[in-house]
This record gives sequence, C-alpha cells and structure tokens, in this order.
Amino acid sequence: MSTATTGPAGKFITLEGVDGAGKSTHLDWLAGWLKRSGRDIVVTREPGGTPLGEKLRALLLAEPMHVETETLLMFAARREHLARVVVPALAAGKWVISDRFTDASFAYQGGGRGVAERKIELLEQWVQEGLQPDLTLVFDVPVQVAKTRLARISGVSDRFEREDEAFFRRVREAYHARATAAPGRMRIIDASKPLEEVTKELEKLISTFCHQ
Ligand code: TYD
Repeated sequence: MSTATTGPAGKFITLEGVDGAGKSTHLDWLAGWLKRSGRDIVVTREPGGTPLGEKLRALLLAEPMHVETETLLMFAARREHLARVVVPALAAGKWVISDRFTDASFAYQGGGRGVAERKIELLEQWVQEGLQPDLTLVFDVPVQVAKTRLARISGVSDRFEREDEAFFRRVREAYHARATAAPGRMRIIDASKPLEEVTKELEKLISTFCHQ
C-alpha cells in the first residue's frame, strides 16, 4: 500500500487457509522472523482486531444468522479494523500481519455459503477503497487433513469449524480460484508437508518479498 509517510512504507501481509491448515503456527514464526529482521510489526486478526471487532467476532463464531448478515458483520468488523488498526499502522511505517482478511470472506461466505461474489465485491470496494494486502499467504491442506488436525485440538469448535467437508472443499476451491486470479499478491503454500519444510518455504518466500 502506498502511504503518505516520509519513512519506509509499511507492508500489509495476510494469512489465509481452511480451518486446521496450521495458520497460527506459521503466523507466530513469520512474526518472529520479521521482528528479528528489524521490522516494526503489528499482529492482528479478523474478524476482530479492535474492541468492537472482537465483540462482533464472538457473535459471528457463535450465533446462528442469515448468511448475508454474517457477510455484513464481517465487513463491519473489517471497517473498524482498517480505520483503527491497519491504516494507521501502515501510515506509521509498520508491517501489519493479519490472521485473515477479505479473501476469507470470498472463500467462506462466497465459496462456502454461496453469497454472490458481486455482493462481496461491492462491500470490498466500499470498505477498503482500493486498499489490498501486499502479500497473502494461503496455507493449503486437503480438507481431510485439516479436519483430522482440528479434531486433535481439544476445545469447543465454533460455528465455522463445525461445518461439513463439502463446505470446506468449497472454501478451499475458492481460495485456489482467487490465488489463480491474483498470482502476484497471493501465494499458495502446501501446508500438508512436515512443519520444517513449510517453514523453509515460508522463509524463502518472505525473504524474496522483503528484498523486492
Ligand atoms: P480463525 O482464524 O480460524 O480463528 P481460530 O484460529 O481462532 O479458530 O477465524 C475464525 C473463523 O472466521 C474462520 O472459521 C473463518 C471465519 N471467517 C469468515 O468466515 N469470513 C471472514 O471474512 C473472516 C475474516 C473469517
């Protein structure tokens, strides 16, 4: 994103993938790597990232609702997140790493729930006014692998995690389709490989990104 600062501009990196792809582990590693490389980073998440956004997140993950209500609330939380966290941090030259962003709306609400893509695009234009992540990493695993990993994690599953395999297959396909349409910004990482291999690939990717 171009910002009106005199110092080096911040970068906006988003992490995506179906539930159970191991995104959180990779996010922690990435945040540590960027910090060690001397960058001022802000780690945040969607839905959430602000006090209001976190309240909306609690509703979104628990409360049954119409699919378009769900979509609108995702973007309401996003509007708040951009205004209070993402845009100010980028303007201050910080690197923002967000655990999910708008690609998740296209994948989950669009692909998963069947909300019309053009409606999501309208919300995207309204809320983001042209702002896009500089880099989006999609952690990709077969749905069966993701489901097995999720089942191993103890705790109560949320409204999305409880969806069936067909839902997650549609979510995964939607991520693939978006990555094919935006190969410059989005990178698919095979997260079914052993952790060290995924980390190695991630390191290669982020070093290249930092030096371009
Ligand atoms: P997730 O990152 O999976 O949280 P956790 O790792 O704590 O379980 O995000 C919560 C859920 O929100 C996830 O199932 C995907 C969903 N989601 C959408 O459906 N649309 C969106 O636009 C976003 C940002 C998330």
